[in-house]
Amino acid sequence: MWQAVDRIAQPVTPASRGGVDDGVEKDGVEKDGVEKDGVETDGVETDGVENDGVENDGVETDGVETDGVETDGVETDGVETDGVETIERIDFEPAGTAPYDRVADRIACSEAATEVAGWRTGSIDAIYIDPPFGTGVARLGRGHRYADRADDPDAFVAWLLPLLEEGQRVLAPHGSLFVHLDYRTVHYVKVALDRLFGRDLFVNELVWCYAVGGKSRRGFGRKHDTILWYARSADWAFYPDAVRVPRRGGSHMRVVLDGDRPVQEKTDRRTGRVYRYPVAAGKVPEDWWSDIETLNHSDRERIGWPSQKPERLVERIIHAVTRPGDRVADWFAGSGTTAAVAQRLGRGFMVCDRERAAVDLCVVRLAAQGRALAIAGTPPPPLEILRSSC
Ligand SMILES: C[S@@+](CC[C@H](N)C(=O)[O-])C[C@H]1O[C@@H](n2cnc3c(N)ncnc32)[C@H](O)[C@@H]1O
Repeated sequence: MWQAVDRIAQPVTPASRGGVDDGVEKDGVEKDGVEKDGVETDGVETDGVENDGVENDGVETDGVETDGVETDGVETDGVETDGVETIERIDFEPAGTAPYDRVADRIACSEAATEVAGWRTGSIDAIYIDPPFGTGVARLGRGHRYADRADDPDAFVAWLLPLLEEGQRVLAPHGSLFVHLDYRTVHYVKVALDRLFGRDLFVNELVWCYAVGGKSRRGFGRKHDTILWYARSADWAFYPDAVRVPRRGGSHMRVVLDGDRPVQEKTDRRTGRVYRYPVAAGKVPEDWWSDIETLNHSDRERIGWPSQKPERLVERIIHAVTRPGDRVADWFAGSGTTAAVAQRLGRGFMVCDRERAAVDLCVVRLAAQGRALAIAGTPPPPLEILRSSC
């Protein structure tokens, strides 16, 4: 029988943690240059998919209805650390049976700047971040909220850039960074990332299309987010066969039989050359994704944190650039979508969020999934939880 969860709370100093490469710097370096405090906000926005900023009638955003009450924002404290980390640990394997050097996954309740400064250079294979979008209003979920950044793109870039620089530092040479944004700031951040990584290491602008949310009466509905993908070096990893999707009917290609195997076929009018693609093999998606819907009101995946993203979205990204055993990071963890997908797919992870409530939700989500994986015979690594910073 699996003893699925074994909780041990122990104070550990950074210097006392060692032995295996857990991706965390042991010198407790503090980094400044990133604002630690919350942003004053003066409004309310429902969570998940942004509304289109034009006019929303009937107001269904991504499934959480709000009463339109004005708020004066949410403020969270800055972080004070005293150099001592309090770590709770959840083991998913029976006591004494876990390989002695199995690297633990990590979730920290922390300011991103403080947490990421402690991560080892070159230790991360993929980073997916989904920052606050700079709406200028508090984001509300089911019983939860967090403060967004001010609606000021220049200030937004000034705040995010030091974190992106740290992201570049911690990426392995074959590693990739994915930054999830929307129309408000994506073009500002892309210029900053082009300068930081170099335009030749810009890989894709992924357009995630969805349908749920408010409608516009004065323009077309703003129904996509943008995910910018940059590589650490020209040797970036990409596993296209891991992200194949079914070939759709109704395209410009006809479906014919090649023996007893259906293939999509097209003929190049200029050269006369015939191209055939087996239907069963699927295809690598293009850079616009319309086959993953945002989480709706009653989605079982929803756990109540504002702006929770669908696991399938993050899963495609993680599959595309990592293999089992690689390590994934997200310093705006929210409900823990990145961590949950990484855990389920056998990748290690390091995540943080400044909000204690978000970290609490992540822990519940990861503990439940970890137990289920253990019962299924594939226990994930231990989970270390650091709550001392918020
Ligand atoms: C858009 S949400 C992330 C949602 C997440 N992708 C999910 O699927 O649940 C952004 C998160 O960033 C966190 N956050 C904002 N500023 C932060 C900071 N300076 N350091 C750490 N976390 C921060 C917020 O608390 C919020 O949970």
